[in-house]
Amino acid sequence: MKEVVRPATFLFAAGQETVTKLLSAGLRTLGDRPEFEEKLRADRSLIRPFLEESLRMDSPTKVDFRLARKTTTIGDVDIPAGTIVMLCLGAANRDPRKFEDPNEFQLGRKNLHDHVAFGRGLHTCAGAPLARVEANVTMNRLLDRTRSFSISEAHHGPAGDRRYTYEPPSF
Ligand code: HEM
Repeated sequence: MKEVVRPATFLFAAGQETVTKLLSAGLRTLGDRPEFEEKLRADRSLIRPFLEESLRMDSPTKVDFRLARKTTTIGDVDIPAGTIVMLCLGAANRDPRKFEDPNEFQLGRKNLHDHVAFGRGLHTCAGAPLARVEANVTMNRLLDRTRSFSISEAHHGPAGDRRYTYEPPSF
């Protein structure tokens, strides 16, 4: 039973919050950048590169871990065997050595697919294709069913000084 429950629990967490975060980040960008919204409404094929750039800019999974099986060196840091290494995916995705103007959302970025939002290697995200399809379908539907997106200044403050704090409902 454990063998079924554990993977099911993992999949529930791995597959749900991550896509929600991707879509929220994408919608926030569209709410703040009407020029992108206009482009996406005019040409739906831009949704894919838009989502890839959202994955890079607002990586839903900020960190990932690896266990060093052998003693090794990364950069100039010695890593003894048995060390748990935390990989900051969100930071790597904004590395200026890899991405030009890393803090700028670019719809036509040349190395769009070089981000590591889904990890890398043997354990790269098994749900990445599903996540991309889910996000694409949802974004299409949202565009179909709405005329425009905007951020509520009353709730989140003015452009350039947004706040996205969670206030639990009072019962
Ligand atoms: C935008 C959405 C998602 C993001 C950003 C994301 C991100 C990640 C990351 C960073 C890892 C670790 C990869 C590594 O260690 O190299 C991972 C692993 C995994 N993800 Fe996702 N994920 C997403 C959606 C999903 C979905 C929808 C599913 C399935 C329903 C899923 C299932 C998994 C599984 C099974 C693993 C473990 C793979 C392994 O260890 O071999 N993920 N994901």
